[in-house]
Amino acid sequence: MSQYRLAFPEVAVDFMNQDHHEFAALREKLLAVIAAGTAASGIEPLLAELHSHTVRHFADEEKLMQDTGFPVYPVHKGEHDSVLADMAARIAEWRQTGDHGALQVWLEHAVGDWLVAHIASMDTVTARFAAGKQGR
Ligand SMILES: [Fe+2]
Repeated sequence: MSQYRLAFPEVAVDFMNQDHHEFAALREKLLAVIAAGTAASGIEPLLAELHSHTVRHFADEEKLMQDTGFPVYPVHKGEHDSVLADMAARIAEWRQTGDHGALQVWLEHAVGDWLVAHIASMDTVTARFAAGKQGR
């Protein structure tokens, strides 16, 4: 088991769980690649994949919220927007500085903590609401 493995709850919507596990696996892979001293050219495609996965996943969650009339959509959407802005800024900074240590610390701590907290709060509530609506 990877030392970077995260523990987070399953939510009531399958595609969300699948995406969360894919994201966690990508994060683990990135951390392993950085720890192995891989060159920037080996990190770049994984970071780009993490970013595009997140963009697509957030859009899918936002569509689910809109389709089911989730009442606090703006709050959940707002957190997605700030996370994406931070991710884009961190990636841009890494491309500019080549500071693998800063990238590693951000992925290990900020991204890991955010993922677990977000799934346990907003995603859990959103999925429960959506599953209730769709199961009616
Ligand atoms: Fe979310």
